[in-house]
Amino acid sequence: MNQPLHFDTRAIHEGIKAHEWEGSTLPPIFQTAAHFHDTAAQLGQTFAGERPDHIYMRLTNPTNRFLEERLASLESGQAAVVTASGMAAISNACMTLLRAGDEFVASSSLFMSTYTLFTNIFKKYDITVRLADPLNLEAIAEQITGKTRFVYMETITNPGMEVPNLKQIAALAHENGVPLMVDNTLASPWLCRPIELGADIVVHSTTKYFSGHGAALGGVVVDAGNFNWDTDRFADFAPFTAQKGNLAFIHRLFKEHHVNFGTTAAPFHSFLTVLGLSTMGVRMERHMTNAIQTARFLREHPRVSWVNFIGFSDHPCHGMAKKQFDDKGFGTMMTFGLADQDACFRLVDNLSMILNLANLGDCKTLIIHPYSSQYVSFPQDLKDRLADPCLLRFSVGIEHIDDICGDLSAALEKV
Ligand SMILES: Cc1ncc(COP(=O)(O)O)c(C=O)c1O
Repeated sequence: MNQPLHFDTRAIHEGIKAHEWEGSTLPPIFQTAAHFHDTAAQLGQTFAGERPDHIYMRLTNPTNRFLEERLASLESGQAAVVTASGMAAISNACMTLLRAGDEFVASSSLFMSTYTLFTNIFKKYDITVRLADPLNLEAIAEQITGKTRFVYMETITNPGMEVPNLKQIAALAHENGVPLMVDNTLASPWLCRPIELGADIVVHSTTKYFSGHGAALGGVVVDAGNFNWDTDRFADFAPFTAQKGNLAFIHRLFKEHHVNFGTTAAPFHSFLTVLGLSTMGVRMERHMTNAIQTARFLREHPRVSWVNFIGFSDHPCHGMAKKQFDDKGFGTMMTFGLADQDACFRLVDNLSMILNLANLGDCKTLIIHPYSSQYVSFPQDLKDRLADPCLLRFSVGIEHIDDICGDLSAALEKV
């Protein structure tokens, strides 16, 4: 075959070395804390980077390496590091770029742990985040200063369901000499590959669509390998640029943060993620069609006040989503409103199949009331600004559509 393989095929086959794995068509789980070396000289050379062998699981592991190569390719990047969680990937990627006194610009609509990390935890290190409306290019531009180190966006904001124009934001970042980092968790590379739109760094919670079954926790940082770090703004990257050129970022992330903060992924979780990737294509197709039908069902229901789903043609981000997601779908996430918090609780408590839990992008349909759960320990004013007591977040799974709508319908009767 001469033509390049499709995404769904690569998600199953890419990188498989069955002949090296006793005929296994899935990578072995290398469950070892450290790797044996024949001679003292060999171990020394491996530490010096002169041999490609593995040393210790906190540094590298062959199962993790397999997943890194597969995910770098699926995201159209050049290199990747997998981590223990999505938050480990986000914190590693940001800390690689940031020093005390630095600033960065981020979307004002962020996943709540990312929001806490950016606006609260980073303060301790004298790092300032400047938040801007992800849909307002001028507002983003206004926040960029001489101290800015990067711009940060989510492909689909969680739980705002906004779709920023990544092409324009990447161009803006580059005009200002800084990279664009994108959290692509809610879209996945099946729908959107931010690097193809100009992003320089992509981060993920692989816990979601990649693994797909709610069994494994993980994260990944992917480097596009396109950004020129050899500039005055990034003079501190000089030793890494000298060694790795445009791959200076991922090299620095690995050497400084991943290894020393110990953000390593467990190889068993990486294996589960590889297993999940094998069915990603068909899962995503079912997710997309189920989401559209569920959103329509909810919108037509008299007890539902509103539905925020980018698949609706009157959603303000519908056009951008169609363009950036190659017309393949609109993700599987939506939020919807009921009369009040009590109504939300009654709906959740009366569901029989749909699960009340804090995850998304799972093959199972999931629901959560963010105001009383994820945002519960936020200060009241912030909680009121970021969440809404009448809002439920919904992640549509791949069960039969009649069972999803049937469960919702029965529970809505009791609201
Ligand atoms: C958009 C987004 N980014 C990052 C994360 C964090 O991922 P993890 O839970 O794997 O640390 C999540 C988790 O829900 C998320 O929704």
